[in-house]
Amino acid sequence: MSTKSQLLAYLKRQKGTWVSGESVSTTMAISRSAVWKHIRSLREDGYMIKSSPKKGYLFLDAPDLLFVEEIQDELETSRFGKEKIVYLTETDSTNTRAKELAAGGAPEGTLVIAEKQTSGRGRRGRNWFSPTEMGIYASLILRPSIPPNEAPKIVLITAVAVADALAKMSGLQATIKWPNDILVREKKIAGILTEIGTEMDLVNYVIVGLGINVNTPHDCFPREIRDEATSVFIETGERVSRVNLIRDYLNLFETYYGLFLGGKSENLIERWKKSANIIGRRIMVDQSGRRYTGEVMDIDEDGALLVKGSDGRTSRLFSGDITTIHSSI
Ligand code: BTN
Repeated sequence: MSTKSQLLAYLKRQKGTWVSGESVSTTMAISRSAVWKHIRSLREDGYMIKSSPKKGYLFLDAPDLLFVEEIQDELETSRFGKEKIVYLTETDSTNTRAKELAAGGAPEGTLVIAEKQTSGRGRRGRNWFSPTEMGIYASLILRPSIPPNEAPKIVLITAVAVADALAKMSGLQATIKWPNDILVREKKIAGILTEIGTEMDLVNYVIVGLGINVNTPHDCFPREIRDEATSVFIETGERVSRVNLIRDYLNLFETYYGLFLGGKSENLIERWKKSANIIGRRIMVDQSGRRYTGEVMDIDEDGALLVKGSDGRTSRLFSGDITTIHSSI
């Protein structure tokens, strides 16, 4: 931990009480001028710290930036976000960065998080709108010992973790649109992009990329997605702490992932089915121009959608864009 981080942790522990420059300098074993230099730097980062020649320093508040120290403070996970967090003020895509790290041997639980993405990627070659300091753009590295055909289930448990984190933080009741869209009032609030690296017949790594529209105002979305997208701010009228939201997500994700690895994710899949509200519906699935129409029979244990076509045959679908067909009869 750097001296600056240690000083921050010390001031936070004393939150609400003045601490003299002398006691900070003695506790930290650094000079008074070094204390002052770090305080100035913390203020530049957005921390609100009062100073008085007589009383010393008073920690007031942290900025809502996704600093490693902020995320790790009160994080209850044992590995996720604990091993390593790579914090970037700007990057093209956190998934691309995470893939590079995974290929270089980064351990499970490594998190890449950015304040802004210049080429945020969505599914099927789409862009993910990623304005500065408004959303969560995060990618986790997983190294599960599973065959590749089990990996799609990770999208389902991630979607449940995101919906639960949103409910915990803001009370919003999100629904899940297969396979990876999180919606509120039928508008997209979050999306998941998983990318898998395989070696022989085994998964080498899975990157779980998550984008959540958190404090984005309606007018900030580009016109072409303005009517289809929403954010926590639009839905609740309140700005929420992105730090708290990512922390809640990591805590829930680690628990659900543990259940998945232990073969105990049935309840999560049932929860997914309830939130998705899709079983028994007639849908149209578009897979890059190839279209299937049919009735959703179930989601199987691998996370595939079982769709029964008009010829009576059931197809297992792993990806695609779905539209619910509202029958007029
Ligand atoms: C989708 O709904 O199409 C998936 C969107 C996923 C966006 C996230 S933002 C963080 C991570 N990095 C990316 O480039 N994409 C994912």
